Amino acid sequence: MSIIDWFLDRFRLKTLHRGIFDRDIPEGINYFYCFGGIAFTALLVCIISGLFLSVHYIPSEKEAYQSIIKIHEEVYLGKLIRGLHKWSANVLIVSIVIHSIRVFITKSYRPPRELNWIVGVLIFVVVMLESFTGYLLLWDQKAYWATVVGTNIAGSIPIIGETVLLLIRGDYEVTGKTLIRFYSLHILWFPLIMMILLWAHFHMIKRLGISKPL
Ligand code: HEM
Repeated sequence: MSIIDWFLDRFRLKTLHRGIFDRDIPEGINYFYCFGGIAFTALLVCIISGLFLSVHYIPSEKEAYQSIIKIHEEVYLGKLIRGLHKWSANVLIVSIVIHSIRVFITKSYRPPRELNWIVGVLIFVVVMLESFTGYLLLWDQKAYWATVVGTNIAGSIPIIGETVLLLIRGDYEVTGKTLIRFYSLHILWFPLIMMILLWAHFHMIKRLGISKPL
């Protein structure tokens, strides 16, 4: 037994690996069935790069913009980490769109997977909100006005519009309060909700298996 085998055996990692990765897949699937996995990989890169960014980012009205410049120009590997965060977010969005189209075309939303489709739609919404809240964190003119416009749309809902607007912005205008609110949603609330939804998504995939191609 090599030292690696011994190590894997003592941690029982081989059986764990088998439990997680060795699964039956239906015959006849193609590369389009990989996009759920690609989306998950992109999400992991997003989370890891985001953890590093949060070490240097300052979510305050006065310092947010400067802290981003500092990450970009002074922090060791800062530019790379920012790039990874931005590009993995883009890959995530493109791959969930392709993944959803694949699920739609193969009619995998039909029972018994209809609840997983609903969970998927919720994941999609959370990913979009995650992008929207992340965009404000740059705290430059473009981010500011994009948030003014985006939140104005929510504010134009009949009857409850003003309440919703105040709830999202934390104020009548987009201010430092909005920045902190969006930061909290971006790094805590939405990732937490996403983890719960992804657990449900993967649990159903594990129990129901992947649908047979048409
Ligand atoms: C971060 C987002 C997502 C991740 C990481 C993810 C991951 C996965 C993975 C790994 C699978 C296994 C099969 C495959 O990869 O094609 C899968 C299946 C599935 N996903 Fe997603 N998914 C996401 C978003 C969505 C969205 C937005 C929808 C629909 C609106 C959706 C609906 C489904 C359904 C119905 C299945 C079962 C398909 C089948 O059995 O053929 N997912 N997902």
